Amino acid sequence: MKTIRKPATMTQAMVALRHAGASVGLAPTLGRLHEGHLSLIKKARRDNDTVVVSIFVNPLQFKAKAYKAYPRDLEADIKLLNSAGVDFLFAPGPEQMYPEGFDSRVEVIDLAGKLEGKSIRWHYRGVTTVVAKLFNIIRPDRAYFGRKDAHQLALIRKMVADLNFPVKIIAGPTIRARDGLAHSSRNTLLTPEERMAAAAIPKALLAIEPKARGGGDRTALTRELVTMLTAEPLIKVDFAAVVDAETLDPSVMGGNTLIHVAVFIGGKRLTDNRLVVSHGVDGSKPASR
Ligand code: PAJ
Repeated sequence: MKTIRKPATMTQAMVALRHAGASVGLAPTLGRLHEGHLSLIKKARRDNDTVVVSIFVNPLQFKAKAYKAYPRDLEADIKLLNSAGVDFLFAPGPEQMYPEGFDSRVEVIDLAGKLEGKSIRWHYRGVTTVVAKLFNIIRPDRAYFGRKDAHQLALIRKMVADLNFPVKIIAGPTIRARDGLAHSSRNTLLTPEERMAAAAIPKALLAIEPKARGGGDRTALTRELVTMLTAEPLIKVDFAAVVDAETLDPSVMGGNTLIHVAVFIGGKRLTDNRLVVSHGVDGSKPASR
């Protein structure tokens, strides 16, 4: 695997490969890689001639304290990427991505304000800005994102459609630990006691799922979800909602449903969701992802 730090060098390498006719798949990450990331990388490996993974803790999407505290382990990440058969690691520093005088932002306006987005609009602006930059630097044919971050995925799809990025967005399912907790780099920051308490998150989502599929009242279901989560004393619910999966709007009915939660455990923010598919695409049994 080749590690590249400079955006211009990365672009050059990709232009040469694409001239030679190779397809390029990109999996953008913040690093501290886990099973969730690896499942996206595996998918990329199957679909493309060349696989690029980016590791960049993006200061634009964090508050200063969380930026500092974000877990980093580049050495371990490089080992994992090597054994996953990745061709290129793009690992720029903040000074390469945001040189002095950097003054532009990319923002999806309405959709970013859905769910808890109103209060973290700045965060999503940081995400869409960095992903737009990565797409321009690497110019992948396909880019891989997890359903674990359903709002982020929806925003990236919208940005790509609205701004005509020539890239296909491919979504991967949420990969979970044995007790159901979604893998997340932030899980490494939990104490053993907090880690145990975190299992209440997937449990609550799973309990609500059949009721959401049955078309239950969304306000009542959200209330039930919050009650279940707060039964765990270490959990502080930041946001919970049952919404239409595409528009992220609770009042839109008839399509697939997304059950979404964001909680704090010991000051660490964890998010999870379940997609409830109302009709199988081929008329088969309803399923959840
Ligand atoms: P990060 O949290 O490192 O996640 C990188 C990718 O892995 C995202 O697409 C995310 O949805 C996916 N992912 C995380 N946990 C997962 C899990 N348990 N199962 C499946 N996929 C999972 O999301 C970001 O980084 C950043 O915002 C980024 C897109 C890189 C922009 O900075």
